[in-house]
Amino acid sequence: MCYIEELHRHNGDEVTIKGWVYNRRSSGKIVFLLIRDGSGIAQVVVLRSEVSGDVFNLCDTIPYESSVIVIGTVHKDERAPGGYELLFKNIDVVSSAENYPISLKEHGIDFLLERRHLWLRSRRPFAVMRIRSTCIKAICDFFDSRGFVRLDAPLLTPSACEGTTTLFEVPYFNTSAYLSQSGQLYMEAGCMAFGRVYCFGPSFRAEKSKTRRHLTEFWQVEPEIAYATLGDVMQLAEELVEYIVGSVLDKNSRELEMLGRDITPLTKIKSPFERITYTEAANLVGMDWGGDFGAPEETKLSNKFKKPIHVTGYPHEVKAFYMKRDPRDDRIALNFDTLAPEGCGEIIGGGQREDELAKLEERIREYDLPRKDYEWYLDLRRYGTCPHAGFGLGLERTVTWICGIHHVRESIPFPRTIDRIYP
Ligand code: 4AD
Ligand code: MG
Repeated sequence: MCYIEELHRHNGDEVTIKGWVYNRRSSGKIVFLLIRDGSGIAQVVVLRSEVSGDVFNLCDTIPYESSVIVIGTVHKDERAPGGYELLFKNIDVVSSAENYPISLKEHGIDFLLERRHLWLRSRRPFAVMRIRSTCIKAICDFFDSRGFVRLDAPLLTPSACEGTTTLFEVPYFNTSAYLSQSGQLYMEAGCMAFGRVYCFGPSFRAEKSKTRRHLTEFWQVEPEIAYATLGDVMQLAEELVEYIVGSVLDKNSRELEMLGRDITPLTKIKSPFERITYTEAANLVGMDWGGDFGAPEETKLSNKFKKPIHVTGYPHEVKAFYMKRDPRDDRIALNFDTLAPEGCGEIIGGGQREDELAKLEERIREYDLPRKDYEWYLDLRRYGTCPHAGFGLGLERTVTWICGIHHVRESIPFPRTIDRIYP
């Protein structure tokens, strides 16, 4: 048995492929079957003159998405998708499919999302999910090769990390728990044990806003480093982004082409990235000092640059309780957001953490958080506290940007949004 992406290694050989009928065309004398197997699509050529009438009719009428095992001889042909075709020998129908609901013509997005379990077989998800897979591997390789320990954070948590308005509460025996919004607080404990750590997994936010950037379940990679400053983690963040984009350009030229992605902007994603302050950014988009950038401002800002930019020093009121404040200006946080270009917006949020016990206690009061749930977190400031910093990179936003697609819902296999939890 041979995967379609391996056909080029078998020119002239007889091979067996196992897959599904993606499409077929017929001229009466010849049937072209397009078979997909998840690694690619191969054209199989069936000549009426070479096979029995029954077999020819079967190939001519076999329903789309039927599962089939096909034997044929590999033949190099520039005109075939992938550059190789199979000259048909035999077909074994594993299961003849019912009338397949997704055709090769355009469908509305709701129709497709309702059938995401089937839509995943189509060309666009094929390309996007393969790019996502490359990004995941690049992220792990990047941190693993730099001495980080992967330390997974719990998904059931007793407390909020990113603000209490987006918490999902779940029953937990005779109390309740929350689905994790971020692994950060646990990574802060981790970096005091292992120096450099990262977690990589799902985060949950009950986002009530319907935007093209928000999912209720998304993936984040969150590195955290002891003795690191804001500057250190901004540097790390841009090296990470450069590495992810470079890996996709290396491994996924076919997928980027399938998506019609202009890769010129991606080839320019190299460190250093430009850094501007929040105040400069607010001026650029004509926003009053003090607010957070909404979707329109983010789009406007991110359209102004060709590479990702780091925006630093937000007013602390619009950021989470754990942010350390700038010793030179108490109104602002020692934080950064990285905005991807081409209108994409924020892909990373991070910064330096409050490392002084008294100040952190004050923040917990100010943000009206239940102190007892944060005792363990305060311990980190009691026993060997030190400056430390980290960030979270959103996987789906990054994939969306690299793929050049509009909406984040297409960048995850089964998207969860305010109005969708099926399938
Ligand atoms: O900026 P955020 O909220 O930062 C944190 O959660 C920090 N605790 C991370 C850290 O410092 N360890 O989220 C980080 C990133 C965002 O920049 C964005 O890419 C992504 O996570 N993100 C979302 N992606 C999709 N849907 C949502 N609702 C998202 N919320 C955040
Ligand atoms: Mg953020």
